[in-house]
Amino acid sequence: MKQSLQIAASILSANFSELKKDTANALHAGADLIHFDVMDNHFVPHLTIGPLVCQSLRNNGIDAAIDVHLMTERPDSLIEPFTHAGATQISFHVETKNVQIEHTLQHIHQCNCQAGLALNPETPPEQIKPYLMQIDNILIMSVQPGCGGQTFIPETLEKIRTISIWVKEHQANCNITVDGGVNIDNIAQIAEAGANVCVTGSALFNSQDYRATINAMRI
Ligand code: DX5
Ligand code: ZN
Repeated sequence: MKQSLQIAASILSANFSELKKDTANALHAGADLIHFDVMDNHFVPHLTIGPLVCQSLRNNGIDAAIDVHLMTERPDSLIEPFTHAGATQISFHVETKNVQIEHTLQHIHQCNCQAGLALNPETPPEQIKPYLMQIDNILIMSVQPGCGGQTFIPETLEKIRTISIWVKEHQANCNITVDGGVNIDNIAQIAEAGANVCVTGSALFNSQDYRATINAMRI
């Protein structure tokens, strides 16, 4: 596994009318990377942002890593648009139907992008085990995908522990990212269970002082 705890700012909870400013503020306050939630109104009911917005952030000075979280029915068709738009990493869901997972992971890597697999709260961790050596990121959902501001599902901790053990056993070179309901009060437990990247949306962007919030999240 890769080094110490990283904080990923989920811009789903940013002020979209001032997206560049809010994104830059989160980075200046100490966020390590940007988490970019893509919803297609099919895989999940909501509709959010796509490659044009990613490109616009890149064109306007955002040079931090951008981790694209695809909650979409057809991840393959978004790989090239997002890599051309400056994505650093693309993660898609293991539950996605009509996807050949290995093929899609290869496609992302061929585009010189890092590849990740996400799994929903009810999905057993065994589903990602066959791919451990082929991925750069495991995105463990700790809420139902679809919207920000939900409460962390505590059973996720056990799943993080299980996956963390497998990553160590296989010496897999992949991050363990936890996404959903992360806040100042639970982040220590999440990191202790084995996560090395924590996504934070509402807890960060709804706070008055981003720097104080990120500092309080670091352990
Ligand atoms: C949920 C998204 C999360 C969400 C996290 O579908 O994947 O990234 O924005 O937001 P908070 O931190 O508010 O749970
Ligand atoms: Zn996400």
